[in-house]
Amino acid sequence: MGKKVTVVGAGFYGSTTAQRLAEYDVFDTVVITDIVEGKPAGLALDLNQSRAIEGFETKVVGVTTGPNGEGYESIEGSDVVVITAGLPRKPGMSRMDLLETNAKIVRQVAENVAKYAPNAVVIVVSNPLDEMTALAQLATQFPKNRVLGQAGMLDTARFSNFVAEALNVPVASVRTLTLGSHGDTMVPVPSKSTVNGKPLRDAMPAEQIEELVVKTRNGGAEVVALLKTGSAYYAPSAAAARMAKAVAEDSGEVMPVCAWVDGEYGISGVYLGVEAEIGAEGVKRVVETDLDADERASLLEAAEAVRAKQGDISSM
Ligand code: NAI
Ligand code: 2OP
Repeated sequence: MGKKVTVVGAGFYGSTTAQRLAEYDVFDTVVITDIVEGKPAGLALDLNQSRAIEGFETKVVGVTTGPNGEGYESIEGSDVVVITAGLPRKPGMSRMDLLETNAKIVRQVAENVAKYAPNAVVIVVSNPLDEMTALAQLATQFPKNRVLGQAGMLDTARFSNFVAEALNVPVASVRTLTLGSHGDTMVPVPSKSTVNGKPLRDAMPAEQIEELVVKTRNGGAEVVALLKTGSAYYAPSAAAARMAKAVAEDSGEVMPVCAWVDGEYGISGVYLGVEAEIGAEGVKRVVETDLDADERASLLEAAEAVRAKQGDISSM
């Protein structure tokens, strides 16, 4: 049967994700929803009119949803649901400042996803990411492997881009890794980063690596400060769309994602940025990698910081 993906939220993140998913041409249907009247239908019309030029057969359907779940029947049969609904940051705001507002939105969306697409894999992108992923799992009551969050793909892509620019090498020659939270306790991992297969630590001095680590942690805030009216969406949508594609194709690709951690790295009972094999059932397996002692300590610190916040969300 043909594959179906839903993107909830037709803002910048949602609309660019829907575009990428449609252009991959691996889904029969991309559904895009929002609470704004007409906007998802308008975007769908526009995207479908690009089919003849871009050469894809995927059909895009745009649906406005109501406060009591009206319109959600359109997501029935979705293999994957990407949740982008929620407010983005404004300059000076942290992702955590969005917690209460976005918790209400994500809970309402997740409850409807559970009702209308009970077999879907849910990919959360709304911020604060680690907490909203935990909340979506609570609200759907889906098995934990079927709810994951997007952050590590983006943060890793930012780190790789900064390294490539600093060394003036093709970005394809750079491999980096970022674990931890999508926030202050983000853990870029220089020990696992390479340039043309050689350790990053041989390619640039430690101080320069540290500068790029800090720049990666601030990657989202730097874009927000420039845009002034919203946050990044091109790199974020690329990340979420690749994850949805890996689910649809059951690819088993290893990606840095926000996944439920149950014993790996000596950490249990928390959604955290780790590497995982992604397939039709969501997270097939969390992949534990060797880390330096200081990187491992930072990951434990991230787990405790996220655990403290994730504890609060059950009442939201
Ligand atoms: P946006 O403001 O452009 O779009 C958000 C959309 O959500 C709006 O169209 C709004 O009408 C819709 N919405 C609100 N309540 C809804 C509901 N109950 N059901 C359906 N739709 C609803 O914001 P943007 O740029 O698209 O960002 C979306 C979220 O993604 C934000 O929370 C942002 O912080 C987050 N984000 C996460 C990243 C990550 O790496 N995880 C990266 C970039 C953004
Ligand atoms: C980003 O990292 C704001 O989470 C968003 O761009």
